[in-house]
Amino acid sequence: MKIGIIGAMEEEIAYFSHLFNIEEKHTLAKTKYFEGCYGVCSVVLTKAGVGKVNAAAAAQKMIDVFNVDVILFTGVAGAADPDLEIGDIVVSSTCQYHDIDASPLGFPKGIIPMFDGPSIFHADPLWRSFVTEAAREINGINVKEGKVVSGEKFIADKEEVDQLRTLFEADCVEMEGAALAHISWMHDVPFVVIRSISDKANGDAPKSFQQWVYETAERSAFIVTNAIRNY
Ligand code: ADE
Repeated sequence: MKIGIIGAMEEEIAYFSHLFNIEEKHTLAKTKYFEGCYGVCSVVLTKAGVGKVNAAAAAQKMIDVFNVDVILFTGVAGAADPDLEIGDIVVSSTCQYHDIDASPLGFPKGIIPMFDGPSIFHADPLWRSFVTEAAREINGINVKEGKVVSGEKFIADKEEVDQLRTLFEADCVEMEGAALAHISWMHDVPFVVIRSISDKANGDAPKSFQQWVYETAERSAFIVTNAIRNY
């Protein structure tokens, strides 16, 4: 079993560097990939950078170059479900772009126009269950299997996040998951996005993000390692 692990930011992958036995480093398309092992699994780790193109490029490399069996995306997100608190966990059941908008052509917002594929991408049920189980081992937090929406924008406005909830039934918002999901779908590679809530995507989000990013990112990474161990 070879597992691709992608985070967008340093905070999101820092936790793994002292846990994984890294055997090889590669630089591909100006991005570093670390190959190694963790328990019985082979792992490939990368910091992709923020945003959908970076996530898609990393996912494509994970599949084409490293031949991974599954991709896990780990990191932080803004809550869209008002019941989620800082430090709670969303395990993707589905992912969708929130910023694709061809509504002038008659397509609903969030729908990829003229595309012979879905606009809502489903995470792998088996890996979802490994991750959810691992997350539920942490006491005192809410773990929700739910919908992750992605777009090229840090959301920091209550009205905007409420709209994402209403339009897409979003549980959390971030900037990469749907792109990874899209590439995974194209290649029939299973994926799961794991997000710990760093902020509520409202006016306080920038401050909350800065305050909580390290701790919450580490929690997501901790869950990923436990999920791999449960495999
Ligand atoms: N990642 C963490 N918080 C976020 C937010 N509020 N919007 C987009 N991406 C995020």
